Amino acid sequence: MQNIGIAITGSGSALPATFLDNQALTKLVDTSDEWITTRTGIRQRRLVNQSESLSGLATLASQKAIASSGISPQELDLIILATSTPDDMFGSACQIQAQLGAHKAVAFDLTAACSGFVFGLVTAAQYIKTGVYKKVLMIGADVLSRWVDWQDRGTCILFGDGAGAVVLQANESDRLLGFELKSDGTQNKYLNLACTPEPTELLPGVHVGKGNFQPITMNGKEVYRFAVQKVPEVIDKALFHANLTVDQIDWLILHQANQRILDAVAQRLNIPEHKVISNLAEYGNTSAASIPLALDEAVRQGKIKPNDIVAASGFGAGLTWGAAIFQWGR
Ligand code: ACO
Repeated sequence: MQNIGIAITGSGSALPATFLDNQALTKLVDTSDEWITTRTGIRQRRLVNQSESLSGLATLASQKAIASSGISPQELDLIILATSTPDDMFGSACQIQAQLGAHKAVAFDLTAACSGFVFGLVTAAQYIKTGVYKKVLMIGADVLSRWVDWQDRGTCILFGDGAGAVVLQANESDRLLGFELKSDGTQNKYLNLACTPEPTELLPGVHVGKGNFQPITMNGKEVYRFAVQKVPEVIDKALFHANLTVDQIDWLILHQANQRILDAVAQRLNIPEHKVISNLAEYGNTSAASIPLALDEAVRQGKIKPNDIVAASGFGAGLTWGAAIFQWGR
């Protein structure tokens, strides 16, 4: 195989305009700002309204990522959209391709819940490594507000909507230094957005199931336990593949699920607080969007600089978890 490297050359993000803070949530369910803040670190979240769309938000984030990479949409070879909440069950990546005018690009969706961005990044990288494609747009976007039970205080306090994107390009030196991906379907029951088909009799003796999705269900304690145990392990593995040690990490960007998970993982890895990127107070858990959103903000704020080493780790439904270690910029 040719020795082709990968660089992440730009990022972008987009958020809906509507805010919902913890105080407003107390009008919906029996909760308090104090409970939500101390258990999760979340203070507010952004929500799409009825006329906004996942693909619209993702297109906006993509345009910014493409512009910051200094390329044009027409140069893109591939678009991968990591989402669990497409506008269309057949996929939304092609709508984004059309909205961007990226007519040359192949586009498809990838579903791995809150691990979607890391899984997508690694998938995108394989196409570049093999020499098949040179310029790839990788988007993480979710609008879980559409699928939350707004009467369930155990879940509705957690989620928000958003989109983030990066551009990956073939590069002389390889800046994707190591990765590790994991899945365990035996624990699937702990986090679901499941289709429960309604029994429908089409004709006498011919039964089908009419599509019907249930709101998100979650065993918070099990998911918490899983994340705190598995995320440090998978970051360690990715570091091993990268031939790096923990102290060489400049920035830790975890899926923004819960501040207590961020703190516990950083503590287990012995990573000091000032290296941990956290924006969940503002946006809550935006699922596949949370890592590229946090990455983009940190780049724009001047925290993450060219050549900084970033450890990113996603975890969530599936169950799935994974980590990617990369050096920012070309
Ligand atoms: N406000 C007030 N009280 C609440 C609320 C709320 N919003 N939610 C639950 N409670 C109550 C419960 O009813 C329970 O009361 P009880 O003791 O009288 O029965 C009590 O608070 C404790 O409930 P727990 O569920 O045990 O609370 P816990 O400390 O585990 O915190 C939380 C819940 C925040 C959800 C935590 O378990 C967590 O963060 N888990 C990880 C979840 C996560 O990150 N999920 C996203 C994964 S990413 C993806 O793929 C979508």
